Amino acid sequence: MASLVGAFAASHGPLLIREWEALPADQKQRLKSGFEELGRRIAAARSDVLVVVSPDHWSNFFLDNVPAVCIGVGESNDGPPEPWMKGFPHRELPGHPAFALHLVREAMTEGFEPSVSHRLKLDHGVCIPLWRMGLERLPRIVPMIVNSIEPPLPTLTRCLAWGKQLARAIASFPENLNVSILATGGLSHSIGEPTMGAIYEDFDRETLRLFGRAESELVDYLERKLPSSGNGSEEVRNWLVAHGAAGGRGFELVDYLPVPKVIVGCGFAAWRVPA
Ligand SMILES: [Fe+2]
Repeated sequence: MASLVGAFAASHGPLLIREWEALPADQKQRLKSGFEELGRRIAAARSDVLVVVSPDHWSNFFLDNVPAVCIGVGESNDGPPEPWMKGFPHRELPGHPAFALHLVREAMTEGFEPSVSHRLKLDHGVCIPLWRMGLERLPRIVPMIVNSIEPPLPTLTRCLAWGKQLARAIASFPENLNVSILATGGLSHSIGEPTMGAIYEDFDRETLRLFGRAESELVDYLERKLPSSGNGSEEVRNWLVAHGAAGGRGFELVDYLPVPKVIVGCGFAAWRVPA
């Protein structure tokens, strides 16, 4: 049977690549350490498959078709289409069709209805963390795209439910497979709106604290605060999927630092998953 062996979260943002060399040395070192620590743990867990829960940044979907959730079931997916991601070492990232289709079928059986793609472009949301984590061997990547960009968005409660359902689906896959989940996005940032560039550190720190409290407290806080904490902060939905999958218990905060140069509150987290 497949096992969920780890759940992780990391921020992403284009400037983590484009402004990397211009970052203050101490911040660059902490970001590097945060990403690499998650990479080390994903490798140590002998992850065969990494379910990467990420938004799509208009790379696959546009206003004519915005799925709430899309699961990539292809043999492989394309590397990032952004020109500034051209240094990313993989043009093609192998998937795991049998496992991914199992996730889709189990979701449907439980009343969740993802859309399905046989070929996705994995943009910077997926590939910046993969790149910065420095994995020597890339696990097979099963993308789970969660709309965190274009309202109406899946509710926070639904994202938690998705995570719980994902954990059940992983546990019922009949082959031996070590599966980790990597949520990417958040924490606070503001893109293309009047508050562009703002980081809401108080929001980030309280959100991180509430991941260790009851789910209702976390959801209540986010519902109240997300509308005034920058549109990019909505990407915390991906963290909620990982949180739900890991059983809703608090995670170990690997690091958090607001990085004005990349206009993102950058967080790195590892959940304790059930044995
Ligand atoms: Fe993003």
